[in-house]
Amino acid sequence: MYLELDGSGPLHGQLTRALKGAMSSGSVHAGMRLPPSRLLARELGVSRNTVLAAYEQLRAEGFLDGRVGSGSFVAPLPQGARKDVGEPATAEPQSRYARRGRRFHDHAKVPGLPIPGVRHAFQYGVPLTHPAITTAWARALSQAAQYTSPFYPMTRGLPALREAVCDYLVRRRGIAATPEDVLIVSGTQQAIALTARVLLDPGERAAIEEPHYFALRTGLLVHGAELYPVSVDEDGLRCEELPQPAPKLVCVTPSHQFPSGAVLSLPRRMALLEYARKHGSWIFEDDYDGEFRYDGKPVPALRSLDDSGRVVYVGSFSKVMFPALRMAYLLMPPSLREDFVNAKWMDDFGCAAIEQAAMAGFISSGAFERHLRRSALTLRERRGILLKGLRACGRGRLEISDSHAGMHLVVWLRNASQAQGDELIEHARSRGLGLYSIAPLFIRPPARAGLLMGFAGLSPTEIEQALATFAESLDAVLPV
Ligand SMILES: Cc1ncc(COP(=O)(O)O)c(C=O)c1O
Repeated sequence: MYLELDGSGPLHGQLTRALKGAMSSGSVHAGMRLPPSRLLARELGVSRNTVLAAYEQLRAEGFLDGRVGSGSFVAPLPQGARKDVGEPATAEPQSRYARRGRRFHDHAKVPGLPIPGVRHAFQYGVPLTHPAITTAWARALSQAAQYTSPFYPMTRGLPALREAVCDYLVRRRGIAATPEDVLIVSGTQQAIALTARVLLDPGERAAIEEPHYFALRTGLLVHGAELYPVSVDEDGLRCEELPQPAPKLVCVTPSHQFPSGAVLSLPRRMALLEYARKHGSWIFEDDYDGEFRYDGKPVPALRSLDDSGRVVYVGSFSKVMFPALRMAYLLMPPSLREDFVNAKWMDDFGCAAIEQAAMAGFISSGAFERHLRRSALTLRERRGILLKGLRACGRGRLEISDSHAGMHLVVWLRNASQAQGDELIEHARSRGLGLYSIAPLFIRPPARAGLLMGFAGLSPTEIEQALATFAESLDAVLPV
């Protein structure tokens, strides 16, 4: 395979760019199988780890399909233009659900998708990937494949994985749960769908944070929920703004508010739990991004403070491993267990057993937490470089939100309108840098412009290169 590396930055980054270039030029086309890593490494004269890292990055960004070990296939289209939904709909929608789906969702306009043709991007939602985790996971998968029962798995999840999740939660998140509480689901997205089905009839209200995780908003709207946005400040959700009469469901990201990064303060946690108890509301706790904390004391999960059994807790493996896994765990309140397991059975009978067995082994062998510790160090370094660079080039024009966890920073452009923010994004794009506006994560976007800057997918050198372009664009669009 002929690929030209541009000689800039780490080799795996060069190879990732070269492969993306080949995909956008069409010389590598959808459905094509990329050469095995060993072979490509030999052809290019690079190490196999370099090729594995590039493949892993492309897989995480949606440019490749296929699992480790079974070949890497080029995905139908780069995700920016990807239409997983098939042909454009022409006929009338056949149900209210389908009508809402068309109204509230457009696959090509999901915020945060890769930006085609750029050299670097501060893309958020991209996990940290490295070859060691791929190799360890491939080993865990192949071992699991030999020993997994060929029959239908338990709907609520393999006992070994549910136990491993409980051990992990008590150690890392201070949550005491039993395997009976745990439902293994295929990602937070399925947890949202099941929670909506179990708790909300179409037309009923759910409160969500403003700003919020866009896929939560879409999932609830397409389910038929009516949304009530509640604003967020530096202490997280402003509980005093929760409405009366109370909504049936309140959805929060307390350990690291998405996207602002605020941590829900302890008094607000207690106020929210009291509100739910008093009004009979349910809380959906998306414990997103909390694994990677850089400073500040961890605050106990809402679920660990909940005496009234009102919290549905969800943790995902998407960011701590990779999103292609499609695996998460949900802690069911005791009174809803039967309904959640029923809903999961109706959906898919249960998650794939081999992956569950592999994950159980991965957690109980200690490999998972080793990976978390190592990733946290790498992420801390990348975050530090980004922060330092932004402080250096900001010169009074940037306001960086105070956040101590996660894989992105929220950066507001001082005294800049949305139009100027868009101009900055366009200027940077024309110079090969992808930037992401925070506006799509609001129902009512604020007047000022803000960016979400993800740092997990860029090496330190790449962050520095991207910052140089960012500084140029900032000077051009918002001169000091
Ligand atoms: C707030 C939030 N929760 C959860 C997730 C993960 O979702 P899933 O587990 O469906 O991959 C994301 C992904 O970006 C997110 O932003």
